[in-house]
Amino acid sequence: MTQQVLPHTQHAVLISEFGEPEVMKYQEGVAVPELGEDQVLVKVAYAGINPVDYKTRQGKGWGAANIQKEKFDNDKPAILGFDVAGEIVASRSDKFAVGDKVAALSFASGCYAEYVVVDANLLAIVPDNVTLKQAGALPCAGQTALQFLEFSDIKAGEHVVMNAPAGGVGHLLIQMLMDKVAQDDIKLTVICSPEKYAKLDTLIDKDKLADWIDYTKDEAFPNLQADVLLDLVGDNAGVRALSVLKSGGRVKVLPSIWVDKLKEAGSDKNLSVDGYGVKPNGEDMARVLQQVADGKLTLKVLRSYPLSETVAAHHELQKGDAFGKIILEVAM
Ligand SMILES: NC(=O)c1ccc[n+]([C@@H]2O[C@H](COP(=O)([O-])OP(=O)(O)OC[C@H]3O[C@@H](n4cnc5c(N)ncnc54)[C@H](OP(=O)(O)O)[C@@H]3O)[C@@H](O)[C@H]2O)c1
Repeated sequence: MTQQVLPHTQHAVLISEFGEPEVMKYQEGVAVPELGEDQVLVKVAYAGINPVDYKTRQGKGWGAANIQKEKFDNDKPAILGFDVAGEIVASRSDKFAVGDKVAALSFASGCYAEYVVVDANLLAIVPDNVTLKQAGALPCAGQTALQFLEFSDIKAGEHVVMNAPAGGVGHLLIQMLMDKVAQDDIKLTVICSPEKYAKLDTLIDKDKLADWIDYTKDEAFPNLQADVLLDLVGDNAGVRALSVLKSGGRVKVLPSIWVDKLKEAGSDKNLSVDGYGVKPNGEDMARVLQQVADGKLTLKVLRSYPLSETVAAHHELQKGDAFGKIILEVAM
């Protein structure tokens, strides 16, 4: 094992109970985590934040269940945060060395801290022309966009409708879909607010879109006889969007807790509805970093907050109207 001289304690954001953003406390004197086999210790430069973070903080989903079982039930606090980019300062992996600049999506969490332990198989090296700020914004949104596109199995010539094309996942997914518009002759329609539609110019050539639906207008969506709906919002917004589909169309849902609600709402049209859960891995991390490095993918960082202002960052993300990503800056 290679190791630098490291501090024993660090600054980190701890939670000891679920609830509002204010349950997160920025503290000093928190133990630096210990390395296991095939793991590395990363000095965190940037930690992306994602809706799953605030859902976990609220006590919802698998993230909260894990924290309850592994931490709270043992009277221990937890550290949130699944996205990390930074530099390796200790390694028990034969694939990654001290000094490597890396990024990962790690569902073991702990990234809202100066140091985090990450399984080596989740890591990818950050290419020279990608900044750690970009890399820290990318793990969850980038791997999700890549995998969700493959999961959606869109065929040449199909008409696809997506909502939230400017959010953390959506602003990457729409760029990947535009490649399919060019290569596979798919038609793409987006559902978003006028404010976000205006901003899409910075990501894609909007003239190549088939259509745009303004969901802020109080009127029914058109029946486009579309083949596929990519639903990144769920709940009533997802139900409302079902009217764009042809009978027997497919719905691919990212916030998968809404699958049953959409199944029920789409039953009279015989829609097939499936949810997707991202599978973190180093290969997809590398693929999506390379797309940014090659200039194929534009990554928008809406705002960066210092780690000590994680509460404000959660308030901002929870508004649900982000254009691109919100991240925490831990150390440069
Ligand atoms: N299953 C998984 O593995 C997985 C992985 C990643 C994310 N997710 C989930 O996927 C969802 C999207 O994630 P994200 O990171 O992209 O979230 P995000 O960045 O918070 O998404 C914000 C975007 O949603 C749009 N939006 C909000 N309400 C809308 C509506 N009714 N119709 C159309 N657009 C609407 C907003 O645009 P406007 O200003 O136009 O409203 C905004 O640009 C979240 O629920 C997240 O938890 C799941």
